[in-house]
Amino acid sequence: MWQSFRNRLIASAGSIFPDARTALYGVWGYPIHHSLSPALHNQAFRFFGINALYLAFAVHPQDLERAVEGARALGFSGWNLTIPLKEAVLPYLDLITPSARRIGAVNTVVVKEGRLEGHNTDAPGFLMALRRHVRYPPRNLPAVIIGTGGVGRAVAFALAEEGIPLLFLINRTRERAERLWEELKADYPHLEGGVLPWREPLDDPEFSRIRLFVHCTSRGLHGSPPLSIVWERIPRDALFFDLVYQPGGTVLLKEAKRRKIRAISGEELLVAQGALAFELWTGKKWDLRRAMVWFRRGARRQGGGSGDGSR
Ligand SMILES: NC(=O)c1ccc[n+]([C@@H]2O[C@H](COP(=O)([O-])OP(=O)(O)OC[C@H]3O[C@@H](n4cnc5c(N)ncnc54)[C@H](OP(=O)(O)O)[C@@H]3O)[C@@H](O)[C@H]2O)c1
Repeated sequence: MWQSFRNRLIASAGSIFPDARTALYGVWGYPIHHSLSPALHNQAFRFFGINALYLAFAVHPQDLERAVEGARALGFSGWNLTIPLKEAVLPYLDLITPSARRIGAVNTVVVKEGRLEGHNTDAPGFLMALRRHVRYPPRNLPAVIIGTGGVGRAVAFALAEEGIPLLFLINRTRERAERLWEELKADYPHLEGGVLPWREPLDDPEFSRIRLFVHCTSRGLHGSPPLSIVWERIPRDALFFDLVYQPGGTVLLKEAKRRKIRAISGEELLVAQGALAFELWTGKKWDLRRAMVWFRRGARRQGGGSGDGSR
């Protein structure tokens, strides 16, 4: 009774009301100061009347082990991880879900009775965002993944699990794409496709068969030039999902839209993976449209927010 009154009081106060019982969450990365996740999650805690606080922590990879021990000792309830910590955190966790283990990356830690559980919400978050734009399940959606780093791996396993018929991988470092293709074929022997060569501007005759292009490299960020693509090769009825997010839209997103190719911004993944992390921590589901409003409000307050497309 008192608890519910207190929670409603916190919600109506319009601001987080930290006290001795406030649950602590956060996002760790390096750098992290542009992250929009605190704005997103704190608005969600407020909306649901949950006495919790979510902060951004700049954790250098060298300090990761000490940070994990610190979070354990301080009684954190959970946290997110972003570049460059998603793979590095694996050895410090007590349990890793089979899907996160297969992808090789954890972006969400849930603390349960003192044990640290590692989850990956990028993979289901990607599908959640995709579902808003395509007929489901995507069994007739041949896809290409450009960039097979951490998030490219998550997308590849997510799409293979959904039963897409044809998948191509392209990565600057070809061996990385080949390794992923072998892993995929071991689990999904009927999957067709393979590894295409990396050349710029990006082009391949196979592109004419593709209906979903997913951009998963960090090109265009940190001063690197945006990826160049032979847009004429991309079918008019294809969907272009740029996982990178930049205030106002990335160069690729704008170019796709200019050419009247349907395009999805990385902010949709950012919100969807956040929604799934929040649900793991609290059991509460976000309405994605409302969460997008939280996200945009956070971005405005922060003067544009994440310039590097990471959470
Ligand atoms: N919207 C979201 O919520 C969300 C979530 C996760 C990630 N992302 C974004 O997705 C991108 C990738 O993230 P990640 O976690 O997969 O990072 P990662 O594991 O570090 O992988 C980076 C990828 O980018 C490629 N790359 C880096 N520099 C390149 C260059 N100069 N030319 C060509 N390729 C280059 C890498 O290729 P090599 O293998 O050759 O190095 C690799 O495929 C980042 O921009 C990140 O911000 C967005």
